[in-house]
Amino acid sequence: MKVAVSGKGGVGKTLIAGGLAKGFAERGFKSIAIDADSSPNLAMTLGLGVEEARKITPITENKELLESKTGTGYSGVYRLSFTVDDIVRDYSVSTPLGVNLIVMGTVQSMGSGCMCAPNAVVRALLRHLVVERDEAVVLDLEAGVEHIGRGTARAVDAMLIIADSNLKSLEIAKHIHDMASAAGMKQLYLVGNRVMNEAQGDAIKSYAEKNGLTLLALVPFDQKVIEADMNGETPLLHKEITAVQTIDDICDALLKNPIQTLQG
Ligand SMILES: Nc1ncnc2c1ncn2[C@@H]1O[C@H](COP(=O)(O)OP(=O)(O)O)[C@@H](O)[C@H]1O
Ligand SMILES: [Mg+2]
Repeated sequence: MKVAVSGKGGVGKTLIAGGLAKGFAERGFKSIAIDADSSPNLAMTLGLGVEEARKITPITENKELLESKTGTGYSGVYRLSFTVDDIVRDYSVSTPLGVNLIVMGTVQSMGSGCMCAPNAVVRALLRHLVVERDEAVVLDLEAGVEHIGRGTARAVDAMLIIADSNLKSLEIAKHIHDMASAAGMKQLYLVGNRVMNEAQGDAIKSYAEKNGLTLLALVPFDQKVIEADMNGETPLLHKEITAVQTIDDICDALLKNPIQTLQG
């Protein structure tokens, strides 16, 4: 299972990506979370402290990895297949929530066509990472939609597009949906987050209906999420938080075949 999480900045991608990765780990998967945001912050959501998070070397700065994958002696000729085992053993950081974390680091726009080594390795990791049945990979993507080329579309089983009731975030969700759909991605789902009341939930539902988006779930707003983040703790360890429970339910929904929506 390989799931990508996208959406406007601040809508809750990192909380949801982290919660899914944790949920997959708890369900017995070898769970890998890939932080592909150029301002990475998934580490703390997965339970690492500030100091530990700061120590992580992003893939784009990992000279040894770049050398081993791109040092074929021929310029532009790279060895770019990865298995989860290789990556987990050599380049991931294990986290208190049982998830192995890989931080990509800053890459130039995926759409720029730059085949410089860090870009090539990150692209390859996203696209060619071979995932076995007992493995789950969750990608925390950045707001930009440059990642969504045909290669990424083929490589991902499902993409969750996160939005709140703010029309701007819904418009970005639709844009991402249309790009991903044009790239051939089939399993695209809208997830409403930070939902404070029924009116906000209804606004998200009606936007989805009018614009042909499939609504997978509505995750409620919970002040305790903000408080945990403020204290540098991960909200994901607080099982009493309804938002955290809903994200866990999304894990089950994704594991059904076919995927079953919790809302719609
Ligand atoms: N369901 C929720 N209830 C309350 N606060 C939330 C919820 N989801 C996310 N947040 C808060 O919103 C902010 C942005 O969340 P984050 O996951 O970092 O978004 P993104 O990765 O999309 O930028 C954080 O401060 C987080 O604590
Ligand atoms: Mg984020």
